[in-house]
Amino acid sequence: MTTALAHRWFELLKLGADEDIYTFQEVIKGKSGPKVNIRDKPVYMMSSYDYLGLIGHPEIESAAIDAIHEYGTGTGGVRLLTGTNVLHHHLEKSLSRFMGTESSMVLSSGYMANLAVIAGLFSKNDLVIADERIHRSIVDALKVAGIQPEPFRHNDPLSLKSVLEKNDRVKRKLILVEGVYSMDGDICPLPEILALKEAYRAFLMVDEAHSLGVLGKTGRGVAEHFGIDPGRIDLFTGSLSKAIPANGGFVSAKEEVILYLKHGGAPYMFSAALSPANSAAALKSLEIIDKETWRLNKLWQNTSRMMTGLRKGGILTGSTQSPIIPVSCGKNEDAAKLSKGLLDQGFLATAVIYPAVPLNSAILRLCGTAAQSADRIDQFAEALEELYTTVIKQS
Ligand SMILES: Cc1ncc(COP(=O)(O)O)c(C=O)c1O
Repeated sequence: MTTALAHRWFELLKLGADEDIYTFQEVIKGKSGPKVNIRDKPVYMMSSYDYLGLIGHPEIESAAIDAIHEYGTGTGGVRLLTGTNVLHHHLEKSLSRFMGTESSMVLSSGYMANLAVIAGLFSKNDLVIADERIHRSIVDALKVAGIQPEPFRHNDPLSLKSVLEKNDRVKRKLILVEGVYSMDGDICPLPEILALKEAYRAFLMVDEAHSLGVLGKTGRGVAEHFGIDPGRIDLFTGSLSKAIPANGGFVSAKEEVILYLKHGGAPYMFSAALSPANSAAALKSLEIIDKETWRLNKLWQNTSRMMTGLRKGGILTGSTQSPIIPVSCGKNEDAAKLSKGLLDQGFLATAVIYPAVPLNSAILRLCGTAAQSADRIDQFAEALEELYTTVIKQS
């Protein structure tokens, strides 16, 4: 960390403490869900990634508990050596079926999955072209791999085309996008990106952390959303900690790619295998997503209700197309003041500030989930409208 960055953080923390507007790392007592206990008060959750409201699902909890009884709490090693159990194999098969790919591998997080793919398959001799708003885990993976990426303008196929055109002679090219962008909530224009990938013979990796369980008629993700055969996409990565209420990450791709990554992807080889409880919870979640299809419908109904309420109140929500709703706040302090004001009224809506978003583009990052109630969404939109008028419009 540079000294300037450290100073800025300490100044921000001091401001947060002086003005009592620090709402990061609020301690939740008990389970997360639509209603949580914070500072010994009931608080309604408006920013959780638990898109389908599956945290606390009794069948998922039972699967995790049974797995602990049968397989223990830890795996005792990395996958390649002593850490592989039968749950990993079941989960990998199930993920491949879900994603529509030949094969999959699971790792201890989505962050690790991105690192495994990028550093395992690409090097500085390749051209890596990344959407400028790509997730930090991918930015870090590129650094580890010693790759200086060529950025293209966010969600802009023309900008991608011009980078591809300029570098047409480079042999191996990789395009990096997300299904749903984690801070903006917009969806990657997959048909146009795919056409360019094929025209310029590039590889394409799609991070489905926020689109799995969320996009498409059955929650398969961005390919299903656009009616595209997932077999046309070289690499999918994702997290098991958002619509799927566990921890862990995965890569889905052709069999030979996964076989290679299981022997050449460092996070698979040098980081402990996914725990039995997480494997079993993720496995059961995939089953529940297919069984309880009402959850996906409810997620989108709630998202639409939230958007309607916010728009009615004149609240700016960027260009979102998904349950991720970024409320534009501008200054870090304003986002923090809004978040604290809402917490005082019994809502947890988290502020996201630089470097997670560009400087002076702080947001309140709201998430619609299937677990929220219509009444609560309406109450929240009203509370936010009032605060937004005093904090943001008068700032
Ligand atoms: C787009 C994206 N990719 C990857 C990750 C990392 O996933 P995990 O939390 O499982 O490490 C995240 C997490 O927030 C994300 O938003």
